[in-house]
Amino acid sequence: MSWDIEKIKADVAADVASASSLDALESVRLKYLGKKGLVQEMYGGLSEASADEKKLIGKGANDIKTLAEGLIADRKIAISAQSKRADAIDVTIPGAQRGVGTQHLINQTVIEICDVFERMGFVIQRGPEIETEFHNFSALNIPLDHPSRDSFDTFYLDQEDPQVKGHYLLLRSHTSPGQIRVMKQHKPPMAVIIPGKVYRPDAVDASHSFMFHQIEGLLVDKNVTFADLKGLLTAFCKKYFGDDVTMRFRPHFFPFTEPSAEVDIQSNIFKGRAGKWLEILGCGMVHPKVFEAAGYPAGEYTGFAFGMGVERIAMLKHGIGDIRTFVENDIRFLRQY
Ligand code: DAH
Repeated sequence: MSWDIEKIKADVAADVASASSLDALESVRLKYLGKKGLVQEMYGGLSEASADEKKLIGKGANDIKTLAEGLIADRKIAISAQSKRADAIDVTIPGAQRGVGTQHLINQTVIEICDVFERMGFVIQRGPEIETEFHNFSALNIPLDHPSRDSFDTFYLDQEDPQVKGHYLLLRSHTSPGQIRVMKQHKPPMAVIIPGKVYRPDAVDASHSFMFHQIEGLLVDKNVTFADLKGLLTAFCKKYFGDDVTMRFRPHFFPFTEPSAEVDIQSNIFKGRAGKWLEILGCGMVHPKVFEAAGYPAGEYTGFAFGMGVERIAMLKHGIGDIRTFVENDIRFLRQY
């Protein structure tokens, strides 16, 4: 039998090149190099061949074997590399889903409010949530017999204040003690906002919670007036609630400011509350007793302070009816914002 060696070599090359998987390549290998493959068949015919043919066919079979082995080995590497690459970028495999979180509405509100004040030159400060009676009450001119000091209105720890015998540490019931801490640490002029959590043992209902957030503001300098306070809070309300907002400063009492006021606002952006006055914050001129507690010389400085409840403002702005929804961790509620 005669063999067209060159044609077989070309076939080997074409077959190997067109094998696109390892299985297909194995079939090609068997076709040429297997026990019943072409190369074996060529060797098998040698005994019947003439001496000249033997030489030619023997050499041809050897050449084909070497060629096939080489090409198959190379192709194997290429197919494996290709399938690894394909694995790495298989765009049809469903992606590993990572739950993307959102910022809690309360934090969003804190940041938005602080932003407005920061753009007006205020600096953010923070105070501790575990406070002393001095910072939370006495320094703020809240007398010993004031009802807010009662254990029904403040969470006390059963740990004594290391500095004052008979006084207990407590969870701050407002952010106002931050005023004292900032004033003890810095000299005027200063303009700070102090956001944070506060705690009160209130029975929980739609508008009360034992933990909520406040943002305190304090500005101290020389010759600060109530007009400055009004101007600043008006600018804040317009920026935060929109130009349509109307405000009123309603006289009020706070021990740490004199005179004091509460600010109510009205706006038709508050769904279902149009035409109603809604209280959003307390404010006033810093009381001389507060400066005294901070260690400032009498009569040297003037300033104003204000404090607002974050939950209340978020509820107004977004038409939320129940304060408990903030802490129920219902993702359907949280995702809306
Ligand atoms: N601390 C007050 C409260 O929790 C809010 C407040 C009122 C803060 C008047 C102030 C202020 O700084 O001047 O009800």
